[in-house]
Amino acid sequence: MFDQASMLRDVARRASAEASNRTLLEHQPAAIAITSGKGGVGKTNVVANLAVALANMGKRVMVLDADFGLANIDVLLGLAPKHNLKDFIHGDLELEDLLLDGPDGVRIIPASSGIEQMASLTVEQQSKLIRGLSGLGRHVDYLLIDTAAGISANVINFLLAAGIVMVVTTPEPTAMVDAYLMVKILAHRESRKRVSLLVNSVSGKEEAIKVCRQIDVVSRRFLSRPLELFGFIEKDRNVAEAVRHQAPFIKMFPNSIASKRMNVLARKLHSYCEERRSTDELDVWWDSLFHSARPS
Ligand SMILES: Nc1ncnc2c1ncn2[C@@H]1O[C@H](COP(=O)(O)OP(=O)(O)OP(=O)(O)O)[C@@H](O)[C@H]1O
Ligand SMILES: [Mg+2]
Repeated sequence: MFDQASMLRDVARRASAEASNRTLLEHQPAAIAITSGKGGVGKTNVVANLAVALANMGKRVMVLDADFGLANIDVLLGLAPKHNLKDFIHGDLELEDLLLDGPDGVRIIPASSGIEQMASLTVEQQSKLIRGLSGLGRHVDYLLIDTAAGISANVINFLLAAGIVMVVTTPEPTAMVDAYLMVKILAHRESRKRVSLLVNSVSGKEEAIKVCRQIDVVSRRFLSRPLELFGFIEKDRNVAEAVRHQAPFIKMFPNSIASKRMNVLARKLHSYCEERRSTDELDVWWDSLFHSARPS
């Protein structure tokens, strides 16, 4: 059967080969996709605030809004994009023409909201986007990808292209079940994919560990793979308050518990990526998947 993922790998492999005389480690960003099974669990807030936290550490950060159906990172940040991904995919703009200047130097590639044709990109359109990102990615340290909730082909292909996938859940049973389903689909598609859990809206570390343990037990039993807890964020009403003001909570309420936690997560992510850089493990980078040329 025709396999979209292997075709996309091929495109990205060629795109990186075209970028002549470069070493992979120097020029590829660490690519982290933030996803979830259930909607509304906090993905976009995590992406926006993690991006600002990394930028405040002096990192060059680019955010891709890959929620093509219901894009909203620009709304969350109070930005008004003139163009969006539709103009790149269906028009003649370059990807860099879409870049928006977000807070603290974060660059944002906005998606287009509510345009049905964007909600399911063809494999050629996804290839075009991956090629564009491979080019732009050379100028940044971190590429954070905010995906739509759920398991559409669009989402899965982005998750497969990213080096690290973070599945966000809350302690709600429905969100946990859907998080497990996401982990399961990824495990079936790409057994070596690095998948971590980020538990949002918890009372504290204990609750996060409990949530992770519950999903981990099922994952070990049925998928034979453990699930790593990347981190957690406390339930904090400053988050909703900042959303109402269309500002990242980390800027509006820098001393809030959620903001402090976000800084911890950014430092953790950075040291994790640096560790892999120093040990030459390439698997956190955007196109690393495509360099290993392993069968899908
Ligand atoms: N740590 C938190 N504490 C309190 N409220 C939170 C927290 N994180 C998120 N929220 C609330 O959840 C709402 C949804 O968050 P967000 O839009 O980031 O979710 P999402 O997963 O991106 O949703 P969608 O699937 O629709 O894209 C926020 O507007 C905010 O009110
Ligand atoms: Mg969102």
